[in-house]
Amino acid sequence: MLLVGTETSDDAAVYKISEELAVIQTVDFFTPVTDDPYLFGQIAAANALSDVYAMGGEPKLALNLAAFPNCLNTEILGEILKGGADKVMEAGAVLAGGHTISDNEPKYGLCVTGFVHPKKMWKNCGAEPGDLLVLTKPLGSGVLSTAEKGGIIREAEHLEAVKTMTTLNKYAAELAKEFQVHCCTDITGFGLAGHAMEMAKGSKKTFVIYAEKLPVLSGAREYAEMGLIPAGAYRNREFLEKDMESRISGWREDLLFDPQTSGGLLLAIPTEDAAGLMGRLSGLELPSAVVGEVTEEKGKFLIFV
Ligand code: CO
Ligand code: CO
Repeated sequence: MLLVGTETSDDAAVYKISEELAVIQTVDFFTPVTDDPYLFGQIAAANALSDVYAMGGEPKLALNLAAFPNCLNTEILGEILKGGADKVMEAGAVLAGGHTISDNEPKYGLCVTGFVHPKKMWKNCGAEPGDLLVLTKPLGSGVLSTAEKGGIIREAEHLEAVKTMTTLNKYAAELAKEFQVHCCTDITGFGLAGHAMEMAKGSKKTFVIYAEKLPVLSGAREYAEMGLIPAGAYRNREFLEKDMESRISGWREDLLFDPQTSGGLLLAIPTEDAAGLMGRLSGLELPSAVVGEVTEEKGKFLIFV
């Protein structure tokens, strides 16, 4: 029986096999976000695996999806695939094949199968008034990728952005399983605002986002203030505008719409669990933060304060 399909824009499809077991299926691939093929492979794989973690599941099986130009050295493709394979291994899943086609621009990603207990699945709806919103990675990877393409990113900023994008959401998800999670999604191309909107609409609640609490990557503020905002951020804003109210402006607001690559988890959890979860998450390498709260629906689904 299909438990999660296309109707709630959730992270993955979920199919129930038995009372104890449901299968999660997801696929994701994209063009390079960095010049280093090995890192690109790691980032694309971490991103594809993330949708399984966002459902509360564990990845079990992965297949490569690759597109590669005939004119490029196949060693580059080998590096991309190696990056992906290393992340699949770190996830504890098995990489069991895949398919490569010839194309003008390289593309890479994974089709991933995961397992979850049907009653322990995290959907992207079900947030309740009083819940707090926890984000498990800093924002700004879209702005920093734009700065990298412009050739002005500093080495330390680049390393921090790469570290963020290659980190599996596995670690944050494992810790969150010790607590009640009302709903969860991962932050990718629609930005924090877009993915929060999906959760708010699905839950029929208003999410109030505390702009000053957002964790951000080093350099993101500076580059956003210089106007190095990816085109996707403007599309995200346009798409969301009618359902949101913003009481802020400037770079923090820009980062709310910034399309993320392999971003963190956004979890709605009861207030009584928040301190415990934040304490556990503080042991991880990447910064997490409480970035908002859930209230009864107030006309707009998102309010930035
Ligand atoms: Co997702
Ligand atoms: Co996805």
